[in-house]
Amino acid sequence: MSAYIINGGRRLNGSLNVQGSKNSVLPILAATVLVKGKCVIHNCPLLSDTECTVKILKSLGCGVRREGNTITVDATVVSCSYIPEDLMREMRSSIVFLGAIVGRMGEATMCAPGGCEIGLRPIDLHLYAVKRLGVNVIESHGKIICKVAEKLKGDKITLSFPSVGATENALLLSVTAKGTTTIVNAAREPEITDLCNFLNSCGARISGAGESIITVEGVDRLHGTEHTVICDRIVASTYLVAGAVTRGDIELKNTEPVYLNSVLPLLEEAGCSVNVRCKSIRVKCPMGLRRIDKIITQPYPGFPTDSQALFTTLTSVARGTSVIVENIFESRFKHVPELVRMGARIRTEGRVAVVEGVNSLYGADVLSPDLRGGAALVVAGLCAEGVTTVGNVGFIDRGYENLSQNLCVLNGDIRLSISGEGKN
Ligand code: UD1
Repeated sequence: MSAYIINGGRRLNGSLNVQGSKNSVLPILAATVLVKGKCVIHNCPLLSDTECTVKILKSLGCGVRREGNTITVDATVVSCSYIPEDLMREMRSSIVFLGAIVGRMGEATMCAPGGCEIGLRPIDLHLYAVKRLGVNVIESHGKIICKVAEKLKGDKITLSFPSVGATENALLLSVTAKGTTTIVNAAREPEITDLCNFLNSCGARISGAGESIITVEGVDRLHGTEHTVICDRIVASTYLVAGAVTRGDIELKNTEPVYLNSVLPLLEEAGCSVNVRCKSIRVKCPMGLRRIDKIITQPYPGFPTDSQALFTTLTSVARGTSVIVENIFESRFKHVPELVRMGARIRTEGRVAVVEGVNSLYGADVLSPDLRGGAALVVAGLCAEGVTTVGNVGFIDRGYENLSQNLCVLNGDIRLSISGEGKN
């Protein structure tokens, strides 16, 4: 089993460009299935989830070419409406192919998606949205079989929760549906806006992206385009927290500070100095951290659930007691027992964690429970005394491009040990 081996206790310093957003690139790549032509997508992060998405595109018959961080998809011909089970199980976001494939082919067959085990993660809202637009859905023997009844027809879709994935599926299906679709209580995440910008550059007519009500006027067809994926706000928050817990001084470039409007004030509350310029964020924390009163995860523009585990690490080494409330997923404190192994003092009850800060964490052997939980353990290892080994790195590779190399550039001491190599 591969693991990150981290020698903790070094201050992180320096500057870094932030990678493209995982949660943007996956739905945008899926959306290329709707386009009878070539799409060139820049700033694609090199991740295992991106690889999996490329495999799905190829299995559908699309031509896919990759050059560095640019992926070109030619979906002039799509020959298949079925996603193989192994690819479907590999990641949760494979469910966004549902809207794209049905929009293109009039039908799709897939099994329930996989992904990180952070809660029940049902897909009822996705299925509700596609049914509203005229798709018959049969769920049988673990398979989801979707077929357009007569034709895709715009309608009002009212989501009971602003689900990111369900909003994406509703968008993908409605762009070529006949007439007008209104998505009420739509997710407002920047990644939704990025998807809408991509689709509009292909000729779609979407307005209201980033707001709670999105309106889509269906068009007959989409054309090829060139698009650059936005920066990854969760990866940005990871490096900022790593800088904060190591009492370092980090500047992130090529980022969009406004996406972190709910995160940066909490870093300030914890005692960091935060300097924002047009595309850069600099965080310094020479004096050590203090408690954050309450961290409450909410849909965007609220504090992101994906940054919650990182702030659990941060508050673990902050003076005083902090309270964290996880409102989005039911099982998103799986990193807590691992942090406790490293000396953290955290109690959880249901959706609430009470974190009593300690002077220092100490190195231990821990396992990534999921993507962001794994990143939180790496960050904990960077500020812990001694050596930390973080196993199950496959989870972390789903979302972070060159994590260990980037942290080394910032003066961290971290390396990837490939199976069986052990510590030294
Ligand atoms: C996306 C992100 C993920 C992030 C999450 C919330 C991607 C690839 N992943 O996941 O990193 O943590 O948004 O910001 O973009 N729900 C239902 N029924 C549904 C759909 C969702 O009950 O049909 C519930 C989920 O169980 C969860 C909540 O809604 O409790 C939020 O889920 P959703 O916004 O859909 O998250 P994802 O799109 O899966």
